[in-house]
Amino acid sequence: MNKNHSDVLIIGGGAAGLSLALQLAEQDISITLLSKSDLTEGSSLYAQGGIAAVLDKDDNFENHISDTHVAGAGLCKDDAVRKVVEGAPDAINWLIDKGVKFTIEEGPEYDGVDGNYHLTREGGHSHRRVIHAKDATGREVETTLESHVRQQPNVTILENHIAIDLITSQKLKKKDSSRCFGAYALDIDNNKIETYSARAVILSTGGASKAYLYTTNPDTSTGDGIAMAWRAGCRIANMEFVQFHPTCLYHPYAKGSLISEAVRGEGGLLRLPNGDRFMPEHHPQEELAPRDIVARAIDYEMKKGGFDSVFLDISHKDKDFILDHFPNIAESCESYGYDMTSQPIPVVPAAHYTCGGILTDLNGRTDLKRLYAVGESSCTGLHGANRLASNSLLECLVIAESAAKDIATRLNRPEKEQFPILPEWDESKVSDPDERIVVSHNWDETRRFMWDYVGIVRTKKRLERAQNRIKLLQEEIVEYYGNFRVNSDLIELRNLATIAELTIECAMTRKESRGLHYTLDYPEMSDFATDTILTPNNFVGHAPIREWSSS
Ligand code: FAD
Ligand code: SIN
Repeated sequence: MNKNHSDVLIIGGGAAGLSLALQLAEQDISITLLSKSDLTEGSSLYAQGGIAAVLDKDDNFENHISDTHVAGAGLCKDDAVRKVVEGAPDAINWLIDKGVKFTIEEGPEYDGVDGNYHLTREGGHSHRRVIHAKDATGREVETTLESHVRQQPNVTILENHIAIDLITSQKLKKKDSSRCFGAYALDIDNNKIETYSARAVILSTGGASKAYLYTTNPDTSTGDGIAMAWRAGCRIANMEFVQFHPTCLYHPYAKGSLISEAVRGEGGLLRLPNGDRFMPEHHPQEELAPRDIVARAIDYEMKKGGFDSVFLDISHKDKDFILDHFPNIAESCESYGYDMTSQPIPVVPAAHYTCGGILTDLNGRTDLKRLYAVGESSCTGLHGANRLASNSLLECLVIAESAAKDIATRLNRPEKEQFPILPEWDESKVSDPDERIVVSHNWDETRRFMWDYVGIVRTKKRLERAQNRIKLLQEEIVEYYGNFRVNSDLIELRNLATIAELTIECAMTRKESRGLHYTLDYPEMSDFATDTILTPNNFVGHAPIREWSSS
């Protein structure tokens, strides 16, 4: 028997990982939950705007489905869109049932989901449909789920444990080489690598926006799950669709401080330094156009005018209204010397969301048996070429629910053969690192060239430059990784470099502009929408993944 064995190993404690853990724990399944930082540290904790769901009687599923397809620029999978949109009200009710306190519209009575919750608006949505907890929805959801998960006797939570690699039957040289059995993880505090085995493994490791110099994401978003899945033999899709959020506070010390799209949803206007608005010239939906269009418009205006930023202005609204809706954003601006109730605030776009990821079906199943991916690390087909605002937490919840059902059903079936003894991590050929500067330098260089060459506006030449750089860096990183004992910086750098490589490859494959991928060499959108699917050399793919359209 393996030392650290549980029914299920969940890697990542964001909205995806925690909601999945809770649903499985309630079915008496034993779970090990790894988080590379504090349990809740990750993008989910910082989500501001809210969760999209059809809750208003004047709205309907077809509207939400259509808005998702329009934002996704023809590349969303209809089955994924329908499942997630139609699952939204139940997901919201589940959260309310768990104790999540969403903002209630002022008024005398409180009628629950169909009644008085305040619904805000965000770009690309034709209706008000974003339910939220003021401007800190993620914190409310995460901390509520955390408190439940921590009470489950059958969940072992291991914080500061960073997963390094998956253990598959390929590694064990088994005949049927398409199954996942566990993972290696570094206990960061004790500097010890342990083997974790499980009958099902879930990657809920979040996105990869840290591959870019400027990002709204916390430090955890280094694409670890995507890189691990790729190395383990899973296909990865649509990595060229990196979503840049249009409005991140521009200030030398404001590291990735997001100004929610809900600020524009509640009337905020984008202005040039001279006070002129510019969005009406770019799109009929003006400030509430889909995110890719607004980010590109800002990029265009900044380059055209030589500006360091543009400005977001909601100061024409009543001060109490602003402070009531956006208390945390106002406080954050204040701490950098800006009063959003009385002045426009400087904003720039920053990398925000990874639309591509590990290719899955609608139960989160990947190409490897017993390996699932849920949340931002996955690519279910919901987001297509550009995610609709506030559809992401929703996807975490809806797909986690169906993954939990699928996993529970599989675990109820008897195993065909005995679970193997997994090998321990081999450190016999490595020594302590000699120069840590290699890691920090390569980390910085990767993030900088990704920003400069694989950003909002791309060209063939810029992508080629990025590809040349990443080839050299990869050689250096692989050599370093092979010779020295790992630490979390090195593990993340290795993953970040893989993310860069996959993103560049996907971007070079796409010979058109669509959604978040815009290239000056192919500015038009082609008539046929195809996914970019990358297949690793060690692909064995027996899992039943539905049809994808690939070029
Ligand atoms: P995360 O919440 O990022 O969690 C990933 C977890 O995996 C973390 O616990 C991390 O520590 C852990 N992890 C990663 N790698 C490893 C490893 N190797 N080993 C162990 N653990 C690991 N979406 C919306 O729908 N609405 C919003 O209002 C919204 N606002 C946002 C605001 C901000 C500032 C940001 C950054 C994102 C926002 N998003 C929003 C996007 C949304 O928050 C994320 O897409 C979503 O939370 C992702 O959830 P997740 O569980 O997949 O990943
Ligand atoms: C925001 O509040 O602007 C972020 C919403 C999202 O990323 O979905």
